[in-house]
Amino acid sequence: MRGWAGEPALGGSYTEAEVEAVVEALRESMDPRIGFRAKEREVVFEDAFATYTGARFAVAYNGAGTALDMVLRCLDLAPGDEVMSGALNFVGTHVSVLGQGGRLVLAEVDPDTLNLDAADVGRRSSARTRAVLVTHMNGLPADLDALTRAVSAGADRLPGTPVLVVDAARACGAIDGAGPVGASAWATVFSFQSKKLMTTLGEGGMVTTDDAALAGRLRRLRSFGKNTEWGSNYKMTKLQAAVGLVQLGRLDAMNDRRIALARRRNQLLADVPELTLPPERAGRGHLYYRYVLLVPADWAGVRRDAVIWRLAQEHGIGSVIADPPTYWTHPGIRAHLGGSPSFPVAELTARRMLCPALHPLMSDDDNRLIARAIRESVQHVATTTRAR
Ligand SMILES: Cc1ncc(COP(=O)(O)O)c(C=O)c1O
Repeated sequence: MRGWAGEPALGGSYTEAEVEAVVEALRESMDPRIGFRAKEREVVFEDAFATYTGARFAVAYNGAGTALDMVLRCLDLAPGDEVMSGALNFVGTHVSVLGQGGRLVLAEVDPDTLNLDAADVGRRSSARTRAVLVTHMNGLPADLDALTRAVSAGADRLPGTPVLVVDAARACGAIDGAGPVGASAWATVFSFQSKKLMTTLGEGGMVTTDDAALAGRLRRLRSFGKNTEWGSNYKMTKLQAAVGLVQLGRLDAMNDRRIALARRRNQLLADVPELTLPPERAGRGHLYYRYVLLVPADWAGVRRDAVIWRLAQEHGIGSVIADPPTYWTHPGIRAHLGGSPSFPVAELTARRMLCPALHPLMSDDDNRLIARAIRESVQHVATTTRAR
């Protein structure tokens, strides 16, 4: 079984329905009076996405990165204004804060869920905190109520209540307790990039919000400011919107398959004492965008790397580390944080983590073989290498 040697390049799957949607949109564009104008299909996709998430507005973008940039732009951050975010994160999420002139303040993560630690958010919030940028890490929604309580607990220190900006790039279709992800924060950003849970031909994004003023400004910003302010061209194409509509209709089925595979894998690995399996949280469904395993703390680093190496070399199964602290990999973020940031919980978790491939198109047999390979690799490392 050599089919999952690297991280899958496609997060979901395409069917003939997506092919037909592309062909139909392309054929209609051959009429010079219609062309590639995206507007109509974009509106249909946005409306369907808003209905799916329960948000009042959905605004399509050409990617989640640009969407995050523009949501943060709408905060009109002044020098010294702070945006708080979890230390384990996607690099681009933190880069977007720097890009909008904000001061990035990191907080620790919960080592089980990899999501922001609400108590640490409370401790680190200040009079300058304008937003908490919450990433639903790897498909498990963070507890937004706890985070809201944590920042409001220090509200007497704050001139205005900080808003929640959710990065749900990896959690499209998840439930966060109150309802679908996308319905309850000031703004929620989704990605439809190739590896994501649903995809729109490689790139694409969406923002949901209940705030009419925010939705209106996001529409202007993606379209050269609509003669009222600065803007650029961040629009989704017509073909992406056509495919997005089909993918949205198939999203729950793709996610359900991913969940079923992850739960089955959890059962198959439940008796491997060295492994901490991905957690489930009541009321907050895990989509397993990444299947995250943790090795024991005294395996952190070298022995975890040995497991990844054995899985790849001996069994042909690729793993990723999703994600280490962003200041380890991005020198600009490290410098912004003063050169030697230290988040011990996040750093230890990053050294214990491995995410072996999981994909909705895997067969049950593939999944069984992968579980067996993980078990063998862990046992091999346990018997052939020494703990620190
Ligand atoms: C958590 C997270 N945020 C943001 C992004 C950026 O999304 P995009 O590639 O659509 O710009 C990604 C992935 O690409 C991501 O994983």
